[in-house]
Formats: sequence, structure tokens, C-alpha cells
Amino acid sequence: MSNASLDDLLGRMGATPHITVLTGAGVSAASGVPTFRGDGSLWKNYRAEDLATPSAFARDPRLVWEWYDWRRQVVAMCQPNRAHDVIARWSHRYGDFHLVTQNVDGLHERVDTWGVLRFHGSVWEVSCWRGCDDAPTRWWDDTAPFPSLPPHCPHCGGILRPGVVWFGESIDPLVLEESVAAARCDVFFVIGTSAVVHPAASLVEIARDHGAFTVEVNTEPTPVSGMVDLVLQGAAEDVLDLIEQRLG
Ligand code: OAD
Repeated sequence: MSNASLDDLLGRMGATPHITVLTGAGVSAASGVPTFRGDGSLWKNYRAEDLATPSAFARDPRLVWEWYDWRRQVVAMCQPNRAHDVIARWSHRYGDFHLVTQNVDGLHERVDTWGVLRFHGSVWEVSCWRGCDDAPTRWWDDTAPFPSLPPHCPHCGGILRPGVVWFGESIDPLVLEESVAAARCDVFFVIGTSAVVHPAASLVEIARDHGAFTVEVNTEPTPVSGMVDLVLQGAAEDVLDLIEQRLG
């Protein structure tokens, strides 16, 4: 970690800038939420790409729901960590602040983070798989575990699906538009994401092309490490704590 560059970042953060943070699963790792890639991320030998797709759900909704039901139970037992706390503080401190999260666990919301843009939806929301006319587009349901899987739509009796964005599905157009606008900022953080899933990872390029000072916080190098202004290699909960302490 370069002190000069960290000082540069601190200087930029002191001048009431427009700050945007993009987070991924690494931010919740210290809380005990499994990440999607790397050691310990497989569930029953399945990768996220095997389960988080409409075709996987159409083929075996019970299997896909077993994974989400398990994730919901894990997350329900987890507590937000120092990284969530620091980001929440920034969201209240800086007048022009945005958090774009790929995380579906709801931990940013649990520490009252202002204005969260949920890029990949929420594991705590559900919707009717066949989109019946009587059901809202999606709604909150924090039952964990569900008494039987797959859970059923209370409106039509069909199958419910998790309220997340799967591979091959589009990002909510409004969320995408607001996230792209947010990426055109002064200081852009990309924290705890492998930066391999697009369009989320493309937000870094949008920020850089706009002229933002870009900062990566991650325990490992990623495909965006070479394109950001500053790499702070380390755990998000430690690095953000350090930045917050230095900001005073
Ligand atoms: P990944 O599991 O792909 O990446 C997690 C990243 O966090 C890795 O780069 C790790 O090095 C890093 N990491 C781990 N512990 C960390 C810590 N304590 N502090 C900082 N970094 C740490 O998760 P995402 O990038 O979020 O999408 O995955 C992106 C998307 O792929 C997810 O939103 C999900 C998944 O499939 C969908 O389901 C559509």
C-alpha cells in the first residue's frame, strides 16, 4: 500500500466529492457469507453459474431453491462487519454518495446505508415465476427456511422464484441507468469483487473514462487492478477501517 497514494485518496475524499462505491461478495466475507468464486465457494459441487440461471431453475426449481434457501439461512445468522459500517457512514456523511452493490444478502441495508442500488436484486425478495397477473412484480419475504421447496405463489399457487438477477437476465433498466450515472463521479471504489461479471465490472471503466479517481480494495488482484489509480490490497474490513481512521 503506497502512503503517498493513500494520502492522495484521503485528500480527494476531504473535498466533498461525489463518491461511488461498487461492492461484491468480498465485503460480506468477514461476516461469514460465502463468496461465489475461490476456496469454499462451491455448494454441493455446483458453481454459481450452474444454478443462477433461468434454465437451471426451469430444469430443477427445487435444487436452485435449496441453494437460495441455504444462502438465506446463512445470511440470516450473519452480522454486518466493519466494511459495511464504514460504507454506511460515508453514505450519510457525503451529500453526493452512491453505493452500487452486487450483493443480494441485504447486509448493507441492515446498517442503514443510504440509497443502495441493488444491481443483482435481493435474496430477500421473491416473485411469481410465471408472472401471474395478481402478484406484484416482486415482494419481500424473509421466511428462512421455507417449510417446503419450491415455495408457492400466494396469488396463483404456482412456483415462486428468488428476486435476484440471474446470468442471462437483464439488470433492472432503472437500476442500470442510475448506476451508470453514479459511476460518473469524482472518487470510485471497487471493493471485494472479482470483477468478472458484467455489466457490473464495466462501471469501473465508466468511472475511469469520466476521470474519476479509481480505487480497488481486494485481498487478491483482479482484472481491474491494472486499470485503477490505486490498489489497496487487503481485507475490506481492515482497509476501510484504516481509511476511516485516517479521515478522522
Ligand atoms: P466473487 O466471489 O466472484 O468475488 C469475491 C471477491 O472478493 C474476490 O475477488 C476475492 O478476492 C475478494 N475478497 C474475498 N474476501 C475479501 C475481503 N475480506 N475483503 C476484500 N475482498 C475480499 O463475488 P462477486 O464479484 O461479488 O451474481 O461476484 C459477482 C457476481 O457473481 C455475484 O453478484 C453473483 C455471482 O454469480 C449473480 O448471481 C448474477
